[in-house]
Amino acid sequence: MTLRVGVIGTGMIGQDHIRRLTKVLSGVTVTGVSDIDATRAASVAPAGAQVFATAQDLIGSDSVDGVVICSWGPSHEDQLLACIAAGKPVFCEKPLVTSQAAALKVMAAEVAFGRRLVQVGFMRRFDADYRRLKAVIDAGTLGAPLMYKSVHRNASVPEGLYTSEMPLNDTLVHDADISRWLLGEEVAGVEVRVPRRSSRGGDLRDPVVVLLTMRSGAIVDVEISVNVAYGYDIRGEVSCETGIAALPNRPATVITDQFGIRQAIPEDWRERFIEAYDQEFREWIAAAGQGTATGPSTWDGYAATLVADAALRAVETGGSEPVSMCEKPSIYFS
Ligand SMILES: NC(=O)c1ccc[n+]([C@@H]2O[C@H](COP(=O)([O-])OP(=O)(O)OC[C@H]3O[C@@H](n4cnc5c(N)ncnc54)[C@H](O)[C@@H]3O)[C@@H](O)[C@H]2O)c1
Repeated sequence: MTLRVGVIGTGMIGQDHIRRLTKVLSGVTVTGVSDIDATRAASVAPAGAQVFATAQDLIGSDSVDGVVICSWGPSHEDQLLACIAAGKPVFCEKPLVTSQAAALKVMAAEVAFGRRLVQVGFMRRFDADYRRLKAVIDAGTLGAPLMYKSVHRNASVPEGLYTSEMPLNDTLVHDADISRWLLGEEVAGVEVRVPRRSSRGGDLRDPVVVLLTMRSGAIVDVEISVNVAYGYDIRGEVSCETGIAALPNRPATVITDQFGIRQAIPEDWRERFIEAYDQEFREWIAAAGQGTATGPSTWDGYAATLVADAALRAVETGGSEPVSMCEKPSIYFS
């Protein structure tokens, strides 16, 4: 069976996902697109896909079996609720939503529906290097994980569109999710330190250092720098009781010439995580074909949202902000 998919939001990542859904992956076809910028939607719609005037029209269409949400974070809540009301499996780019209240609403709707329909776009969980790192930690041969260092550097961010809150409520969610997944536990508290600002970021609060205290007492320190100029640089290192497990810098061809011995640095997330995005969609397509979802869930999106909210509070108070979660509904135990 071929899954017929509608894509909402046809900007940077929407176009990249349309490319993989039409040119890379099998068992799927894009039958609809929608964007508040109708001209953009029409210009990137693949052959045969209908351009819907609104996201709601796309979600309600009989020609759409599953929905991919790539619009801006604040519009995810209404679009997710409409997908759940229609009983359609949905892949939602991170962040799931932008407030705790919205996350609880989406979770309540999915729980009332009775089974999972939502997969959140935390693609690092599908990256082969992160999967190997997790396998080492889970094997337990290095003892318990005590500390994790997560480095998240972007060459640049869109000027004017990326605000001072976004390192904490848009970018940090990836590090919050991968920390929970790697260490297998929830975040208990969040602190934020703001070092000397990079002159490249204008008024932006950049870089930021976020400390996550996990329930076991393990500590995660996250560096978020969004204007490093040299490329996209994602690193991680877990300190365990008897050893260190590190995420390798991405293997790339080593070039030797008159400038020295060097390896190329990925330009952005599209390049670094190209295979992870393909894999997250393979798994989404397989589950959506069965009318359900696997992988990162609404619960995981809710957890990351709570960390983002706590980080925003912590930057104001300068102290440690607690994270307290509701009881985990049974549909999120896998
Ligand atoms: N997983 C990742 O690594 C990753 C990487 C980049 C972006 N993202 C996420 O993907 C989402 C989109 O990011 P982007 O970089 O493509 O942004 P973008 O600004 O390039 O594109 C967003 C598109 O959504 C459209 N849009 C906004 N609100 C809409 C609505 N209510 N209905 C329909 N269309 C709407 C905009 O017109 C725009 O075309 C964001 O949530 C972002 O955080 C995730």
